[in-house]
Amino acid sequence: MQKLEQLYEGKAKKVFQTDDPNLYIVDYKDDATAFNGLKKGTIVGKGVINNQMTNRFMAKLEKAGVPTHFVEELSQRETVVKKVSIVPLEVIIRNISAGSFAKRYGVEEGIVFDAPTIEFSYKNDDLGDPLLNAYHALALKLATPEEIETIKKYAFQVNDFLKDFWASCGVTLVDFKLEFGRLEDGTIVLADEISPDTCRLWDSKTHEKLDKDRFRRDLGGVEDAYAEVMRRMNEAL
Ligand code: TMP
Repeated sequence: MQKLEQLYEGKAKKVFQTDDPNLYIVDYKDDATAFNGLKKGTIVGKGVINNQMTNRFMAKLEKAGVPTHFVEELSQRETVVKKVSIVPLEVIIRNISAGSFAKRYGVEEGIVFDAPTIEFSYKNDDLGDPLLNAYHALALKLATPEEIETIKKYAFQVNDFLKDFWASCGVTLVDFKLEFGRLEDGTIVLADEISPDTCRLWDSKTHEKLDKDRFRRDLGGVEDAYAEVMRRMNEAL
């Protein structure tokens, strides 16, 4: 597998072409941003943790019946993935109130929902990723009705899996964001990452935040939190 020219550089990852037209290599950075890039920083070692955590989850989800873009971990920061075109929707599942949900609806963080919620935002940095519903996504031709149904089904399956996994590590899965892609033949697969950048993870006993909120909110101990969730994941595997 040959790493060829860089196709794209995002806030947390770079994507490279390879000598196989159906495969890309993603390279995870330590760069961290928040508030649509307004806040910038570095979380030392984050790229390695996010790469390894994502790949382990993707391998497990694949076995549990959720197709993913994951192919093979190449190095500490690099992974071979299937070439997809990303569906421009951020898919957010919440089990407990926090973040923009708590702010938007004027409620405190930590309210445990009877059932998980799902919401979509339009993945568009220029617009600040605005919230939209399935009708808006259809009107904007971001996805077909069938694709939206598939994405919803997979997102809830991912939640069931992740919630149970993290619970076994003494970690509460508060909420998370997923992205999906289309393979050449149109098959919808889980893409992007599943990491402390994209999930809210609280210690089940102390409710201490073990995710990127420590960076977003200047809580300190950012690297330690990432290392702690990675340690707990390794212990459980
Ligand atoms: P929110 O409460 O800020 O809407 O975030 C919901 C979840 O989505 C949380 O687990 C963090 C994650 N997230 C991302 O992965 N990328 C983003 O750009 C944002 C705003 C949130």
